[in-house]
Amino acid sequence: MNLLDYLPGVPDFPRPGILFRDISPLLAHPAAFKEAILQLEALAREFDYSHILGIESRGFIFGSALAHQTHKGFALARKPNKLPLASHRESYGLEYGSDSLEIQQSTLPQGVRVLIVDDVLATGGTIIAASQLLQKAGFEVAGALTLLEITGLNGGATLNQKGIANRTVLVA
Ligand code: PRP
Ligand code: MG
Repeated sequence: MNLLDYLPGVPDFPRPGILFRDISPLLAHPAAFKEAILQLEALAREFDYSHILGIESRGFIFGSALAHQTHKGFALARKPNKLPLASHRESYGLEYGSDSLEIQQSTLPQGVRVLIVDDVLATGGTIIAASQLLQKAGFEVAGALTLLEITGLNGGATLNQKGIANRTVLVA
């Protein structure tokens, strides 16, 4: 099974010049979704971690499924003003636009090692922001794991330069 067959590129979305990868066909196909989680699980074995941080929105889907598969805890990196308790915030630039992420200060035990999980690695800005949030909050960043890295944007190299170990299932 070629998982890329289930992640079609949509040209010029959400802005002209952006090739958007649609995860909907993969999620709608049980065997493809299962295979994606199994391949993420195989790469996750390379990291030493006790919790997964999923990045809203699409990172929640893969991160929570992987946490369930691997019997790890799951934490939320949310878009702004969604969390009820005191939180840390980090702003970041995107391939298209900018945004912020927040994590709650008191949810995870101090000092745990956390694996960041997202669907797509493009520029790396989102994962760098998530990593900075985890560090601010006193957690260890085990690394970052994605389903797909977009070629030509050097996200993996950018994460390496920041000292964030990273693996991806697919590159396209
Ligand atoms: C997309 C994607 C990654 C991020 C990758 O999320 O799901 O989280 O962009 O880009 P980067 O490596 O350049 O930071 P988006 O912010 O579009 O939101 P969504 O997950 O809520 O759809
Ligand atoms: Mg996202």
